[in-house]
Amino acid sequence: MQDILDEISAEMRKRTDRGTVANYIPQLACVDPNQFAMSVVLPDGQTFSTGDADTLFSIQSISKVFTLTIALGKLGDHLWSHVGREPSGDPFNSIVQLEHEQGKPRNPFINAGAIAVVDSIMSGHQPKESLAEILEFVRFLANDKSICIDEKVARSEIETGHRNASLAHFMASFDRISHPVEHVLGTYFHHCSISMNCKQLAHAGLFLAFDGTNPIYGTRVVSPERSRRISSLMLMCGHYDGSGEFAFRVGLPGKSGVGGGILAVAPGEASIAVWSPGLDKIGNSKLGTEALELLVKHTGWSIF
Ligand code: DON
Repeated sequence: MQDILDEISAEMRKRTDRGTVANYIPQLACVDPNQFAMSVVLPDGQTFSTGDADTLFSIQSISKVFTLTIALGKLGDHLWSHVGREPSGDPFNSIVQLEHEQGKPRNPFINAGAIAVVDSIMSGHQPKESLAEILEFVRFLANDKSICIDEKVARSEIETGHRNASLAHFMASFDRISHPVEHVLGTYFHHCSISMNCKQLAHAGLFLAFDGTNPIYGTRVVSPERSRRISSLMLMCGHYDGSGEFAFRVGLPGKSGVGGGILAVAPGEASIAVWSPGLDKIGNSKLGTEALELLVKHTGWSIF
């Protein structure tokens, strides 16, 4: 595995077209696009890494997998009255579908859907309390108490997040947001601003690759059925309007973030995190996808 990862890393170093870093969040626009990292965790805990695997990056939309997991734990199937579970085929920050579907977001991974999910888990609490709960869960999954929110990124998002504010207010106009919109947005922006490295992220995703149970510690996080459902949503919606392309090229459930990270799970095999800050036109990591494509070629881990 180490040889495979080093070969992929060497291949990625040769690439001249590395995509473009997200520039609509000013703090992310400062990130050096020449970075690359990949980590693979196997069920016995062995962790293989290459590149800048200890460097922290903004997980952005990958956080939506963790909040979805919390929300399903709190609301069960009632969550589906707040948010749908179909691919949207639209960009991650699109508003058009909301108008035609009474303000109900198509799935939990587009921005509108994630805002609705965050609202659903707040249960009358203040943003600080909800964020503490989310952070606690991510730390538990990764077994690492050092994981934190990057306050600078959160500030940067708050200052420029007009589109997300529009989505939240638009949903509120359909009575679909039950907490003060500013509280929901603050919680949403902060949870997108969690910083992790590839090793931590791959560990945090392990339960999804093994039927809801972390195989290293034997701790059950969710039921096998719920784990399959979260993974199916990652496959169908995890890369927004690029989800079909990702399934075609990589063939694994995966979730991307505009920080350039991707969490992918190979059921029964491994959890994988990859990071390269340059994005393709849709907003998914360009080299991250290429690296996963190569990994799956070497390992045969595609689910298809
Ligand atoms: O709300 C936003 O636009 C960002 N905090 C998250 C978007 C994102 O990561 C989309 N993923 N590729």
